[in-house]
Amino acid sequence: MGCCHPYYTPTHEGDGAFVIDASRIVFGAGCLAEAGDHARSLGMRRVGIYTDAGVRRLPYVDIVTRSLAAAGVDFAVFDAVRVEPTDASFGQAARFAAEGRFDGFVSVGGGSAMDTCKAANLYSTHPAEFLAYVNAPIGEGRAIPGPLKPHIACATTCGTGSEVTGVAVFDMVAMRLKTGISSRLLKPSMALLDPLVAASLPGTVVAASGFDALSHALEAYTALPYTRRARPANATLRPVYQGANPWSDASAVQALEAIGAHLERSVRDAKDAEARTEMMYAGTLAGIAFGGGGCHLPHAMSYAVAGQVREYRAPDYPPDRPMVPHGMAVILNAPSVYRWSAEGCPERHLHGARCLGADTRGATTADAGEVLARRIIEMMKATLFPSGLGLIGLGEADANTLAEGAFAQQRLLTNSPRPVNKDDLTRLFRGAMQYW
Ligand SMILES: [Fe+2]
Repeated sequence: MGCCHPYYTPTHEGDGAFVIDASRIVFGAGCLAEAGDHARSLGMRRVGIYTDAGVRRLPYVDIVTRSLAAAGVDFAVFDAVRVEPTDASFGQAARFAAEGRFDGFVSVGGGSAMDTCKAANLYSTHPAEFLAYVNAPIGEGRAIPGPLKPHIACATTCGTGSEVTGVAVFDMVAMRLKTGISSRLLKPSMALLDPLVAASLPGTVVAASGFDALSHALEAYTALPYTRRARPANATLRPVYQGANPWSDASAVQALEAIGAHLERSVRDAKDAEARTEMMYAGTLAGIAFGGGGCHLPHAMSYAVAGQVREYRAPDYPPDRPMVPHGMAVILNAPSVYRWSAEGCPERHLHGARCLGADTRGATTADAGEVLARRIIEMMKATLFPSGLGLIGLGEADANTLAEGAFAQQRLLTNSPRPVNKDDLTRLFRGAMQYW
């Protein structure tokens, strides 16, 4: 089980159990056209469909609506999902849900559409002040009182993993930071993954979501193991991000191997159906890994990066406003993090590098962080990614502010393989400014 952490230790003082929240996943070419049958089987009669304007112009929403109509399921489409949603855009989506009187939901899109749909489902099913369910300390972190309505998540990118997680992320605009709502009850009832949709994705989108998936898997694999997290006072209070465990390890390792072999191919050639299919499956595996094991520093830092971006506009993303795609904001931190965090569990860092395709012959555990950082940098170069935070308009002078922002993400920082303070975070941001 795993290569490094011995999970079974008879006297350990941490938690003694972990939870497997298995997802219902339908994966295969053409399965989007099955949406109607699945909606019926989940008892849906009137469905709210959530998508964004960019995805609306592609054929996928029409495939879903035709299938729903053929199955006798009524629907209304909300196509104003904001890419990188905010508290206000979640609110708007929730109002549409409340007015629509839906008995089920279908999301069609990337992480933004799926997360927005989760929020709309939550606030229309269990109405509350917006901050009630938002993670503490930014919100109240109140427990969701009961199950939501059924939600079929149709992912049109390969990597966010949102279709298998109980997390919905958004920008809290007034505070200039990203946070989320996190509960097992938010997890979609079913994920519908049709690799045919991956053929239409631009290269930058495939790269950003692929690096997001890579980081989900690596962070889950190197997270502090659940056996070293304190036992919860009540079994139901065990966090969604419970730490590395045998279930998250298995999916993380398989995801890393697939991403190491296929990311570059899938970015370079949109017609490489094999590579894009593998990436789509790997993204879901990585979602299973972090959905149960949790993320740590590259994600905690990415939320601060996204909040501080001023002018940067990524190719192939909506040009209307400055925005750094989530997967880019994550991976730019990753080499700097792993150079530092390897000390916490060097064998896992080295094994992660090997899964990604690094040549680890002759490497020792003392080299683990550097070997892993170099493999990630090699993949960033090969996919024409920016060479660090400096290239998206941030500088050394921003490191303190960025560290403040990342330090607010305590739910993620507690999962770090090494204990981390604000000064460490400042140094990690400085180390991420330019890699080559
Ligand atoms: Fe992510």
